[in-house]
Amino acid sequence: MGDKGFFCKDGLWYCDKLSLLELREDLGRKYSRPTPVMVYSQQKLIDNLKAYQCCASSSIEIGYSMKANNNLQLLKIIAAHVDRIITVSGYEIQMALRAGFKNESVIYNGNGKERWEIELAIKENCLLNVDSQFDANHIVEAVTKLEKEAKVFVRVNPNLNPEVHPYISTGLADSKFGVEIAQLPEVLSILKHPGVKVVGLHCHLGSTIKSIDIFKDAAIILNKLGTKLRQDGFPNLEYLNLGGGLGIDYTGEDVLPQPSDMISAIRQEVSPEFKIIVEPGRSIVGNAGALLVDVIGTKKNVAKSFVIINGAMNDVLRPSMYSGYHRITPLQVHQSAEMGKYDVVGPICESADFLGKDRMLPALEEGESLAILDCGAYCSAMASNYNLRGRAMEVMVEDYSWRVVRTREGLEDIISCME
Ligand SMILES: Cc1ncc(COP(=O)(O)O)c(C=O)c1O
Repeated sequence: MGDKGFFCKDGLWYCDKLSLLELREDLGRKYSRPTPVMVYSQQKLIDNLKAYQCCASSSIEIGYSMKANNNLQLLKIIAAHVDRIITVSGYEIQMALRAGFKNESVIYNGNGKERWEIELAIKENCLLNVDSQFDANHIVEAVTKLEKEAKVFVRVNPNLNPEVHPYISTGLADSKFGVEIAQLPEVLSILKHPGVKVVGLHCHLGSTIKSIDIFKDAAIILNKLGTKLRQDGFPNLEYLNLGGGLGIDYTGEDVLPQPSDMISAIRQEVSPEFKIIVEPGRSIVGNAGALLVDVIGTKKNVAKSFVIINGAMNDVLRPSMYSGYHRITPLQVHQSAEMGKYDVVGPICESADFLGKDRMLPALEEGESLAILDCGAYCSAMASNYNLRGRAMEVMVEDYSWRVVRTREGLEDIISCME
């Protein structure tokens, strides 16, 4: 709670200084289809960035993980506040450059990089994260072909359990990501090439992490490995990248570690000879976005009551994909309203199309609006055209005003690439 971002005051939900009810009415006057609409708080985004920025120093660099949200207008704001950007595809590299990130600030990470993507990263002077033996071979081949040096990190799989949903856990022995510590020597021997400079080690444990102890454990492992490698022929190894993963308070009741807690815990475990990189996504954009939707109708059967809304799993995939939880609220809350238990579901032809289950809500009528909170991360970025639904419009709120940062996708936008 507070008076920035999304909060409820005297029964009315706000985004910064603008009440969501007023925003919804305004959108309704301008557009025949005003919802579903993703609403971003510029102030919250900037505050989240500042919470990281104030930890940055000559030895601590902050990189934003673009996979969490790749909206160009958000990226332009983010570019003004962080040192680096973490990309996971060729298009993300190009988008990062378009948003104003400096070439050398881009890190290209991924367990399945295609040759054109590797060559693009090298041509553009971006850093690359080596994920496997074949990845190391492909990078060496690209360096030879282009006759151009590549600076690389090696992504290590530390076999640590962040205790999050298995779909967003990335640093365990059975994960597809990174190089097993036992296989590091083979990968490093491939990278001992005159055109390749190993500048760091990387690991990423998973996402929605609630405890900082696991970051300490990872820092200890990387610090030990890095120290050994510096002595064993990799004197340019100057960075330890501990990845992203800090969770956010999706329930409105959780107390989570702050970026400064995480970064100082890592710093304590890393010797001063190394610079540290962290690459948050969710904790920068997650609570800076909410999806506004309208009720299409309600329905009751013998076992359940449903609210059917015009937002769906193609807009917010997290609940169906990995049981992600989002608070759902009317834009105006009446304390005296009688509450009932509902599943909040979308119109998509799948039983997995739900935004929330067993939610206490007042009786709702067609046309009333709801806000699905904390949708800034991994919602718009994972949105799809499933059931031939257009991707939602997105607006950015700044104080009392708003502007469109993504237009609603129409049928012609979708068809144009099939003709
Ligand atoms: C390699 C890597 N870095 C950073 C992140 C960002 O994680 P989060 O959004 O949880 O901070 C991810 C997300 O899964 C990732 O895979």
